[in-house]
Amino acid sequence: MKYRKLGNTGVSLSEIGLGCMGMSHAYGIGNDEESIAVLHRALDLGINFWDTADFYGSGKNEELVSKVLSKNRDKVFIATKFGFRVKEGIKDFKSMDDAYLDCSPSYIKKAVEASLRRLKVDTIDLYYAHRIDPKVPVEETAGAMADLVREGKVKYLGLSEASAESIRRANSVHPIAALQSEYSLLTRDLEKEILPVCRKFGITLVPFSPLARGLITNTIKRENLPENDFRKTIPRFSDEYWKNNHKLAEGFEMLAKNKGCTPAQLALAWVLAQGDDIIPIPGTKKIKYLEENAKAAEINLTELDLKDIEDLIKKYPNIGPRYNANTQKLVNK
Ligand SMILES: NC(=O)c1ccc[n+]([C@@H]2O[C@H](COP(=O)([O-])OP(=O)(O)OC[C@H]3O[C@@H](n4cnc5c(N)ncnc54)[C@H](OP(=O)(O)O)[C@@H]3O)[C@@H](O)[C@H]2O)c1
Repeated sequence: MKYRKLGNTGVSLSEIGLGCMGMSHAYGIGNDEESIAVLHRALDLGINFWDTADFYGSGKNEELVSKVLSKNRDKVFIATKFGFRVKEGIKDFKSMDDAYLDCSPSYIKKAVEASLRRLKVDTIDLYYAHRIDPKVPVEETAGAMADLVREGKVKYLGLSEASAESIRRANSVHPIAALQSEYSLLTRDLEKEILPVCRKFGITLVPFSPLARGLITNTIKRENLPENDFRKTIPRFSDEYWKNNHKLAEGFEMLAKNKGCTPAQLALAWVLAQGDDIIPIPGTKKIKYLEENAKAAEINLTELDLKDIEDLIKKYPNIGPRYNANTQKLVNK
């Protein structure tokens, strides 16, 4: 495994991190035993950057991760998030419409204690605001997060899906080490304004859904997605855009074959090629995929490879929005 630095912190993180969300949330029902095996294999492979959130499985994902994390605390840099709360009376989370955002200082104080307890650790390495809460000035959110650093509960701060302006404002309160936002071949909206601001302040970009939620791997069969799979709410997986996206994924698989790798590896190599201040966190609950993704760090893309990829994307432009209209309102804020 190769390693990259987290912002200006000096911390070394594996070039390929591990997104743990799908083990307990959003993509059907996970198998805890298998997920625990994935976490152990991640340790073997030197994948030391693990991502969870209090919201994933309403705390179950943090609890699951803690089963391996707490006994291997020195080997893992753990990132978690606060901000989304499940609406009262909702048991089975189906879409983001079942949640609301709360980044108030009073909630942050409670949320961090709950995450520390579930993760069974004394300190969270990287604590993100899951979204920018329009009801709370970002300086207040960042101020409350900075208090947690002073109290030793958190080491570094991050934002998720923040706009360039929010990043600037939060960073003026306390250094922001990482921005976690959706970024992949199919989701490029932060390239124009947000990525340059991250670079100006030495903030690492942590792309979530770097495989476009599996779409780019050409292994997703829409008809096999379980009823409660979050992707059923995403326009890109709807009838309107699927024809375009399936063709795109097929074309991408061909490019990967020509390069002698898998589509997932090619997609991750593309993300890594966008700058050494970028550390993707592909999500998986399978050892096979974890091992495959880890090897993406070994792939070097030529100018021609990059051009072939851009040409393919231009050929199939009808990709569609990455979230439904309500959820889209919360991104890049
Ligand atoms: N900040 C935020 O708002 C936010 C939002 C979404 C996600 N995240 C974080 O980012 C992480 C990654 O994002 P994500 O899980 O949404 O999307 P992703 O990494 O783009 O894709 C995950 C999907 O791809 C599949 N997959 C993984 N490796 C594969 C491979 N080598 N070949 C074929 N299929 C493969 C997974 O299958 P299996 O599940 O079957 O292994 C899963 O269906 C999450 O786990 C979470 O920690 C953050």
